[in-house]
Amino acid sequence: MSSLEIRPAIASDLPSVTDIYADAVRFGTATFELVPPDLAEMTRRFQALMDGGFPYFVAVLEGRVAGYAYAGPYRPRPAYRFAVENSVYLQPAIHRRGIGQQLLQRLISECEACGFRQMIAVIGDSANAGSIGVHTKCGFQMIGTHPSVGFKFGRWLDTVTMQRALGDGASTVPAGG
Ligand SMILES: CC(C)(COP(=O)(O)OP(=O)(O)OC[C@H]1O[C@@H](n2cnc3c(N)ncnc32)[C@H](O)[C@@H]1OP(=O)(O)O)[C@@H](O)C(=O)NCCC(=O)NCCS
Repeated sequence: MSSLEIRPAIASDLPSVTDIYADAVRFGTATFELVPPDLAEMTRRFQALMDGGFPYFVAVLEGRVAGYAYAGPYRPRPAYRFAVENSVYLQPAIHRRGIGQQLLQRLISECEACGFRQMIAVIGDSANAGSIGVHTKCGFQMIGTHPSVGFKFGRWLDTVTMQRALGDGASTVPAGG
């Protein structure tokens, strides 16, 4: 039986996170980055999220970091402050074992506890069935497609936007609102 733990990320997880993301940048279309960020840049991004009070989780499978998920600001202007954008990435070898769903569910719960009200996924590539599938399973609704806004690996790529209300969503005024 393999052991899976989902826990908050710490700085020593970042070399593994950097490797997982580098593979997605080099070989995948979920992200529109073209050059993998190095450990220093991934550390800077992690620290910015920690400083902003955003959640960041890792999935530890048999003692090794095999995936991660985090939320960050949806857009910088202050009226967007109750909306977050999420990211979730796993090592390719462990796809379709329910781990992405568990990571995303944990991220959703933590974002609700933090008082955020909407979560937005901007999914690279409308052919990304895994990402669309896991977001659908976690309660996201399809908002729409931006056709051909990216160009990677010699072809045009769409983005797909999905969204999920968190907690009370828009049914109440938020604390501090
Ligand atoms: C997207 C990703 C995180 C999904 O994680 P995962 O662990 O593979 O997905 P899960 O096993 O938790 O799948 C949960 C559900 O999502 C759906 N799903 C997952 N992969 C799917 C696929 N390839 N095709 C169709 N549906 C899929 C299914 O409904 C699945 O439930 P089921 O297996 O009971 O049918 C993972 O595939 C990944 O890291 N992909 C590359 C990076 C990426 O696209 N990240 C998202 C950026 S927005």
